[in-house]
Amino acid sequence: MRAVVTGAAGFIGSHLCTYLLECGDVVVGVDSFTDYYDPALKERNLGGPKRYPAFSFRRADLLTAELAPLLDGTDVVFHLASRSRCTATASRPATSPMSGTSSPPCAPPPARASRA
Ligand SMILES: NC(=O)c1ccc[n+]([C@@H]2O[C@H](COP(=O)([O-])OP(=O)(O)OC[C@H]3O[C@@H](n4cnc5c(N)ncnc54)[C@H](O)[C@@H]3O)[C@@H](O)[C@H]2O)c1
Repeated sequence: MRAVVTGAAGFIGSHLCTYLLECGDVVVGVDSFTDYYDPALKERNLGGPKRYPAFSFRRADLLTAELAPLLDGTDVVFHLASRSRCTATASRPATSPMSGTSSPPCAPPPARASRA
């Protein structure tokens, strides 16, 4: 199977890539390296899948990238690209359909009952 994993440098996406590669699949990882948390962590996340020859990586922003060549010959797409951290979502709310996989804005902490 040839799979495209978006958000491949993220926490979930990188682990999914490694799992699929261990299963013998060909994996194309796509990520734009958004900077709402340290991109060095994303480099580290990619260390797992990059050990497999069947893995290739495309640094691309899905909001602007040509999707047709990216998806050519693909059997399945795992769409995990997102702005998923609560703080990032709250400070920079969704502005596009790509943000559709974002977590919902975090609920404020429950109010404490005040003592009179
Ligand atoms: N981490 C968890 O515990 C958890 C639990 C349940 C569900 N999820 C969901 O799984 C998904 C991934 O979560 P995660 O923790 O791996 O997030 P993450 O922030 O670690 O990874 C998301 C990746 O998407 C990339 N990205 C964002 N916008 C992009 C764009 N326009 N083009 C290309 N790449 C883009 C980012 O650079 C990032 O590397 C989210 O939808 C999240 O809500 C996560």
